[in-house]
Amino acid sequence: MYKLKVRTSTEYDITITDSLELFSEKVLPLIKGEKVAIITDEKVNSLYGDCLYELLQNKNVINVVIKSGEKSKNAKNYIGIINTLAESGFTREDTVIALGGGVVGDLAGFVASTYMRGITLIAMPTTLLSAVDSSVGGKTAIDLKSGKNLCGTFYQPKAVYINTEFLKTLPKKEVQNGLGEVIKYAFLSHTVSEQDIKKINEKLIYKCLKIKCDIVEKDEKESGKRALLNLGHTFGHAIENLSGYKIPHGTCVAKGLVFSIEISKRLFGLSSDKISEIYKLLKCSKHNLICKYTVDALVSQITSDKKRTGGKIKFITLKDIGEPIISTIEIDKLKGLLKDYEY
Ligand code: GLY
Repeated sequence: MYKLKVRTSTEYDITITDSLELFSEKVLPLIKGEKVAIITDEKVNSLYGDCLYELLQNKNVINVVIKSGEKSKNAKNYIGIINTLAESGFTREDTVIALGGGVVGDLAGFVASTYMRGITLIAMPTTLLSAVDSSVGGKTAIDLKSGKNLCGTFYQPKAVYINTEFLKTLPKKEVQNGLGEVIKYAFLSHTVSEQDIKKINEKLIYKCLKIKCDIVEKDEKESGKRALLNLGHTFGHAIENLSGYKIPHGTCVAKGLVFSIEISKRLFGLSSDKISEIYKLLKCSKHNLICKYTVDALVSQITSDKKRTGGKIKFITLKDIGEPIISTIEIDKLKGLLKDYEY
């Protein structure tokens, strides 16, 4: 078992374990009211809904089940769930448990943060991607027609409980998806090694989250350092948008990291030795790193995504593994840097 304390505006514990044995000790005491809403998706509900229900037997539990996939992170589902809580008589004492991956976590977090101006939220991530990234740090969101995560809050959970047994039923593709974010951590810090990446276990999740917590504790609302966690995401999000969300987020991040490396080389002269070392790590994620979109298409996407920033974006580059840099860079310059880039 691994434990982390997150020291943000509200403090909370992350428990990383291979069973649900500690749930009664770590989570139940935080559930003060009588009512609990388990927000989950169809796939996760069929696998783990019942076992969580059992653990909450002395509570009045409702199950809110959404369709699996990014399309569910919408305003209609959000209002629907808020209405369900209201009609079921949920008060400020009651609790939401997010049981699922990033979509469930973002949506349930947004519900918990806004229902009656905020009720208790417990995160129980069931994918590698949500375990190492989205369940921690308090970002909640729904998607709008104009873009992903455009409506959301910063709202920290009361606890994060990660049961690595849940990850055992993940399809290979979903594990690979999570590895996109794992590689990001391996680039941000020397503490995640090639050997670590090869074993999806409690220790790997702990190491990734330790990096995330150290950053989020210093900059909870992303006014500075937290932007480091967006390494690979500028081009990653552009690829995700252009694919109509058909390419999974982690895969897009892995493809986006290729552009981060290329720009690091062109801006700071990242040496070929260092680049080989970085690619060796990136290849551990076993992603197809080829991007089928042109630089023009990607940059147009980035421009429309960031139109409120006056033509400049914060872009994360690498001086070396473990030495990320936040640069403010004009989008035109970014395009210029990639002018003769062939892939
Ligand atoms: N996923 C990036 C962050 O939490 O800031």
